[in-house]
Amino acid sequence: MEHLSIIPKPVSIKRGEGFFQSEGMPSVTRKETDLGGEAYKLIIEKDRITVEAGTPAGMYNGMQTFRQLTLSDYCDGTLKLPCAEISDYPRFSWRGFMLDCSRYFYSVPFIKNLIDALSMHHINRFHWHLTDDQGWRFNVKEYPLLAEIGSRRQVRNLMRQPYYGGIYTESEIREVVGFASERNVEVVPEVDLPGHASAILASYPGLGCTGGPYRVEDRYGIFEDVLCAGNDQIFDLAEKVFNTLAALFPSKWVHIGGDEVWYNRWDACPKCQKKLSELGLNKTGELQSWITCKLVQMLAERGKTAIGWDEILEDSDKFKLPKEMVVMSWRGDEGGTKASRLGHPVIMAPCTYGCYLDYKHLNTPEEPGQSFGGLIAPVYKSYSMDPVTSKMSEEDAKLILGGQGNLWAELIYAGKIAEYMIFPRMCAIAEALWSPRESKDIDDFSRRLTVHRKRLDDLGINQYRGPLQ
Ligand code: ACM
Ligand code: ZN
Repeated sequence: MEHLSIIPKPVSIKRGEGFFQSEGMPSVTRKETDLGGEAYKLIIEKDRITVEAGTPAGMYNGMQTFRQLTLSDYCDGTLKLPCAEISDYPRFSWRGFMLDCSRYFYSVPFIKNLIDALSMHHINRFHWHLTDDQGWRFNVKEYPLLAEIGSRRQVRNLMRQPYYGGIYTESEIREVVGFASERNVEVVPEVDLPGHASAILASYPGLGCTGGPYRVEDRYGIFEDVLCAGNDQIFDLAEKVFNTLAALFPSKWVHIGGDEVWYNRWDACPKCQKKLSELGLNKTGELQSWITCKLVQMLAERGKTAIGWDEILEDSDKFKLPKEMVVMSWRGDEGGTKASRLGHPVIMAPCTYGCYLDYKHLNTPEEPGQSFGGLIAPVYKSYSMDPVTSKMSEEDAKLILGGQGNLWAELIYAGKIAEYMIFPRMCAIAEALWSPRESKDIDDFSRRLTVHRKRLDDLGINQYRGPLQ
């Protein structure tokens, strides 16, 4: 069944006799069955094509597999397909993609187009990174300066405006959430706290340890100014931010960041030190887990489950993170392995697994993207990612929700470059997250990809075309 070349590879394809052939595009018969979850069947017979599913999600997935075939096999007004029965369902429930819209302010039409293309690969989570040092991207009624000041950085590579930035309006956010939901994609917002907070501090300097002045950052980096752990007003801000997110995003998850928090300001700040002694803490890092636990609780009161980057596990003996908090493993697989052992659900997106799509495809100076110490992300590496590692027990593995690819955007200064970084690596990650582990075969993927590239072309998606490893 080489010829169908579907990505991600379906669980089973049984070849039948003969071919389906139609002049023009056929309408597909949809049939309700008792198939559960995201499963579907696509049955190609000589005289008809049927998608069977028991849920809207399953029906959507089946229609997307059919869409792939129409994109590749519809030629000169005729669709010709070999008769076959495809039975399909996912290996993992969380098949995600993260877009950093803080460093680069991607437009709503671009985001929608991208979500649509990703959903063709059964990607079902859009992790929307909405705040960082370089820009805050939505309005919070009670904190208007986040939009007025925090959304604007001074300089942007290759841009000559006096400032660069903007926010997504309430109606734009609802538009993206609705558009995604029609495509079986849940939009999960992220606000990064208490680090990566320059945009917040530039807007409300009183929330920092030194009082500033601060600026919305105009370059990549980890910045030492973070929210002051000794100032309870940071929780007033979090409360209003969470209320805003809860009103806009139906998803049960909210990502609260927690990565790369430097403690030198907290070490030198009398207010932070006072809080440390009031709480009877021994280490500055414990202040972060105290903050994380409070944020998790605030979200739980709003019916939301918190997700955090793997740093949240550090110094968390004293303030134990609630078990339901989800850990997103990014620095390697250690965070995910430790989190599952502690009983947390886990999403794997290690930069060491080819999940960081801001990394170069190839280690050449011309290639866009970064290479940290020679670490790059060839397509084959992304394909090889497996959220369940050999270090996990069977019990630990049950807590692995899935994985995702992340695109950080400081160097990705145009939508077309973003697409080049995303495709075909997200095709590879989609297969790693959807298809059975035993069926993974890099050579077979590579063959199917040659057909699949035409589908991306037909959707107007830019893609990397160089060597896969
Ligand atoms: C991260 O890449 N700082 C999560
Ligand atoms: Zn402080």
